Amino acid sequence: MPNTVVVGTQWGDEGKGKVIDLLSEKADVVARYQGGNNAGHTVVIDDNEFVLHLIPSGILRPGKKCIIGNGVVINPKALLEEIENLRSRKIKVNPENLLISKNAHLTLPYHKVSEKLKEEGRRSRIGTTQRGIGPTYVDKVARIGIKMGDFADEETFRERLKENLEDVNLFMEKIYGEDRFSFEEMAREYLDYARKLAPFLTDTSIVINEAIKAGKNILFEGAQGTALDIDFGTYPYVTSSNPIAGGVCTGLGVGPTKIDKVLGVVKAYTTRVGEGPFPTEFSPELDEQMRIKGKEYGASTGRPRRCGWFDALVVKYAARINGLDSLAITKLDVLDELDEIKICTAYKYKGKTIKEFPSELRILKEAEPVYEELKGWKTSIGGTKDFSKLPEKTKEYLKKISNLVEIPISIISLGPKRRETLILNKEVFKPVAPRRLSRVKAPRKAMTPRI
Ligand code: GDP
Ligand code: IMO
Ligand code: MG
Repeated sequence: MPNTVVVGTQWGDEGKGKVIDLLSEKADVVARYQGGNNAGHTVVIDDNEFVLHLIPSGILRPGKKCIIGNGVVINPKALLEEIENLRSRKIKVNPENLLISKNAHLTLPYHKVSEKLKEEGRRSRIGTTQRGIGPTYVDKVARIGIKMGDFADEETFRERLKENLEDVNLFMEKIYGEDRFSFEEMAREYLDYARKLAPFLTDTSIVINEAIKAGKNILFEGAQGTALDIDFGTYPYVTSSNPIAGGVCTGLGVGPTKIDKVLGVVKAYTTRVGEGPFPTEFSPELDEQMRIKGKEYGASTGRPRRCGWFDALVVKYAARINGLDSLAITKLDVLDELDEIKICTAYKYKGKTIKEFPSELRILKEAEPVYEELKGWKTSIGGTKDFSKLPEKTKEYLKKISNLVEIPISIISLGPKRRETLILNKEVFKPVAPRRLSRVKAPRKAMTPRI
């Protein structure tokens, strides 16, 4: 299997967990490169549903090495709960199969509290997951964050926490009129977490690069999605990290030459959680209908997801920003009952037709979607075992998506379970023997959608 990045192409929740779980069968290492426990990646194995937040989805398969890279922000309490929860369900989690970067940054209680207070005080809320993710990245960039390596060193942790709390408590008291955080209480509680997590800490960049050198297969697990990217998303209604494929390099210490393929996970329609413009959002009745059919409730927060038609501009944009090689289309079965299905192919703004996803929020807010309408297939496709057996109208829908995005489709997901999947392009599973050979890529046929 080529070293593959699995990246969200829309506003998150595209079904990355399911796709990672599928591909991890042939992978040796599964590595997260950004985000934190704002992510909720669902994997369904037989009748068991697992939701992963910080731990890579590969943990569910025995013998896989899972890495939490330096680009991830870690709430140690949440991580320990996740570990315990998996263990209680007979999933092995130990320093052999879970490795955490010493350079990843720590989310502390004051990050969550300051996020809540700031959001409440603003007129234009982002609708974050309230996990303290943004403030943790703010501290990282402001160079006052605490890295996991420093966390595990009692003296350094105490020093840094004390200094940070002096500042934080000043804000809490003087600006917000809130209670102060107790240094001793927080230090005691968190040093206990640090002792428990210390055995998992290592220089994960060495581990991953050695695995690459040894010809092992690596899966890079993105969280969130391209439209939530801090640089390329619908700013300011974004998360505070880089979910795009480029995030792999900075979030894991892996050079771009070591990445072979980028697979974009695409929901067959669109959803987003939280605030922000959403041109193809459904009318309230259809929104409710699709939310129920697609079980569109946040895997982390339980919030109802806003639902809308497939927006080709968003996914075509994701194809460009991530350099996508192929698409995994998920949740196609959710469209089974619709009489007609719309695809947004352009926006109308002030009388002009726009074909590229705009960076200006104002345009996105005011843009009118231009739709192409296709007839629905009006039959249940969940049990289909072969692409050729899909209804013609379903194939047309897929072909339309592939043509508009100008990227071939390699995986089609027809339900949450592993077996409810069609693999079209066996290349996503193909072994690559000597690494150097895999670097020589055959020239890509220009823009030929392959389905
Ligand atoms: P992620 O954050 O990208 O991993 O996605 P989530 O796990 O938050 O949300 C995707 C949801 O859709 C989960 O509940 C999955 O079990 C479910 N799911 C994934 N693929 C399919 C599919 O093809 N059909 C249906 N009906 N559900 C799916
Ligand atoms: P997965 O990995 C969907 C959204 C939040 C909010 C914005 C900022 O499961 O796809 P944050 O807490 O990150 O500062 O919130 O980003 N958001 C997600 N939406 N899926 C996610 O993760 C998300 N993680 C964050 O709803 O709009
Ligand atoms: Mg999710």
